Amino acid sequence: TELSALEEKVKGTGDGEVCQVRMRGRLHAVRGKGKSAFVVLRSGTETLQCVFFVDKESKVVSKGMIKYVTGLSKESIVDVEGVAVVADKPVDGCSIKGVEIQGTGLFCVSRAAPLPFDIADACRREDDTTGGTVNQDTRLNNRYIDLRTPANNAIFRIQSAVGQLFRENMLGRDFVEIHSPKIMAGSSEGGSSVFELSYMGRPACLAQSPQLCKQMAICADFGGVFEIGPVFRAEKSFTHRHLCEFVGMDFEMPIKEHYFELLDVIDDLFVYMFDGLKQKKKELEAINAQYPFEPLEYLRPSLRLTFEEGVKMLQEAGVEIDPLDDLSTETERLLGKLVKEKYKTDFYILHRYPLNARPFYTMPAPDNPDYTNSYDVFIRGEEIISGAQRIHDPVLLTERAKACGLDVATIESYIKSFSYGAPPHGGCGVGLERVAMLYLGLNNIRKTSLFPRDPTRLTP
Ligand code: 4AD
Repeated sequence: TELSALEEKVKGTGDGEVCQVRMRGRLHAVRGKGKSAFVVLRSGTETLQCVFFVDKESKVVSKGMIKYVTGLSKESIVDVEGVAVVADKPVDGCSIKGVEIQGTGLFCVSRAAPLPFDIADACRREDDTTGGTVNQDTRLNNRYIDLRTPANNAIFRIQSAVGQLFRENMLGRDFVEIHSPKIMAGSSEGGSSVFELSYMGRPACLAQSPQLCKQMAICADFGGVFEIGPVFRAEKSFTHRHLCEFVGMDFEMPIKEHYFELLDVIDDLFVYMFDGLKQKKKELEAINAQYPFEPLEYLRPSLRLTFEEGVKMLQEAGVEIDPLDDLSTETERLLGKLVKEKYKTDFYILHRYPLNARPFYTMPAPDNPDYTNSYDVFIRGEEIISGAQRIHDPVLLTERAKACGLDVATIESYIKSFSYGAPPHGGCGVGLERVAMLYLGLNNIRKTSLFPRDPTRLTP
């Protein structure tokens, strides 16, 4: 930012030269003391101190001006004019510690109305009880203000980087970016989590995933395809990790021999993403300052365990578990802990899930129909991906859709698309907000959703 570039600029100023500046930012904090005013200017994740001293001789700063500055409301947007100098001692409480501005002028560009909460409270560490607090609901009700905190600013830069790194990796392997429709005739993931709507008088729903379209694109011989787009789930789940609308990062690709080809892509993709995120030092620092977290540990290549191996680890830890049933949130967490202890990784792939635990389109394992060629992927013991090889035989697909209770009529064209020659294929869906949340060790998905949509929240 302009503020962070200042430190370099001041240090590069030659002897006898003056570093004259005019900076725009928000009034993060302001306090007056006699004939002086201390202003903390904020821009993005950066904060910088500006000082104003009444100078009788030069008359550049008057008492009236100190009064004007200290009377301005926090969060107003201001332009500060002055001289940037190396600070006598490091400026405490500001991200830019080595420089301050000796102000000569301050102009209010946009005045802020009284705030529903103090930004300083929203910047405080959750374990810091020394000052005021502001609860999550108040923050989310006023998300447009809440997003201004340095940690939030950095969180959404990380979120942006997750999407960018995903796209880079996909394009790097010549996958085609697709944009599938979000209004669909029927559900793709089954269950009751569908937002129904009327489409010109016909029943329709919001897409639960790009699943059906990305598979039909495979039948059109694009090679690998990927999409980053909204996903809608009418889930009445009040948990720390469920939203009613989230961003899905999906890919789908032909398979030559074995579904392990999909796991190879996921492995390379995530190592690439994690290596890239590690470079975002400034953002990670800003987030760590408010929400301290352990850096993510990951292996290269990533750890792969079969579902059966996972079940065995849980059973050895004393958990009673049906080996042909899905894992619960608790058992997933516990397995994450056991894996971390044993293999020293926060990221791993669990594959070959039981048939009962997977959607209708999942390919049964050729050697044992109780299992499937499918996988989930975990960060810190929580699911971020589910994926699989898909059934590309229309007869088996119809059979499985019926067995899973789907209305086959609503997905007729999808099933038909596999009748005209369909390559073996598979892919996965990644939850963007979950990746950002879990990479950063945050405790709630609402923290990584710009304007979260949950069962009760529809605004702002
Ligand atoms: O597990 P899901 O429902 O799988 C699918 O949508 C499949 N079509 C994917 C595939 O290609 N087979 O969703 C995929 C990912 C989850 O692992 C999770 O990260 C995220 O999407 N996700 C959610 N994120 C936030 N809120 C919710 N309600 C989510 N439901 C799933």
